[in-house]
Amino acid sequence: MKKIIIAVDGPSSSGKSTIAKAIAKAVGYNYIDTGAMYRAVALYCLRNHLDCQSVISHLSDLSISFVRMEDGSQHTLLNGEDVEKEIRTLEAGDMASQVSQVKEVRAFLVAQQQRMGDEKGIVMDGRDIGTVVFPQAELKLFITASPDVRATRRYKELVGKGEQPVYEDVVKDINERDYRDTHRAESPLRQAEDAILYDNSDIPFEDQMKDYIRFFNDRIH
Ligand code: DC
Repeated sequence: MKKIIIAVDGPSSSGKSTIAKAIAKAVGYNYIDTGAMYRAVALYCLRNHLDCQSVISHLSDLSISFVRMEDGSQHTLLNGEDVEKEIRTLEAGDMASQVSQVKEVRAFLVAQQQRMGDEKGIVMDGRDIGTVVFPQAELKLFITASPDVRATRRYKELVGKGEQPVYEDVVKDINERDYRDTHRAESPLRQAEDAILYDNSDIPFEDQMKDYIRFFNDRIH
């Protein structure tokens, strides 16, 4: 059967990672979380007290990979160390949004992401997958949800991880990140012209999945 590339883009907490993972599982494709790659670079900066510019000369020391755990989940490795938990904090997310504005960091990660797509059969999520990484992707989804819905999801996610976020801080963080992601000079978040715009604010997950799989089936036949 024909293998394709599925690009899933959208703002923070739109649910795109959950969706991309579920699509990958349903169709038997590999899932790649590119946000995790920016977060890993961010963690490297935080740990080594590097700012966004000084990390450029350290990029060749960085190796980012993924490993599948027994429970089927995927963890991010930074130079062989499992950093999955550390990259998910608000601090790492904030730093990731900053490092992702640096042209050299993007070029470094985009080249790796493009190699991962050589064989097709992947679902990749991020901000620039349909526009920059795989402009030729056969299926592009641009997932969004209202700011309120996204803030509530993010809040619950952080609580679920044992953090004690203040709801107003989460809203502020989402707004700031949206602004930075859509206004940066390098590959700003935007919908590719041929992407399907999908607002999932009020759509139960099972119903969303039926739509995504229908889009997939339309593309492989
Ligand atoms: O999706 P996320 O929250 O894990 O992403 C972390 C940050 O990385 C986010 O601020 C946007 C940035 N990012 C990006 O610029 N390009 C991508 N392909 C993925 C993430």
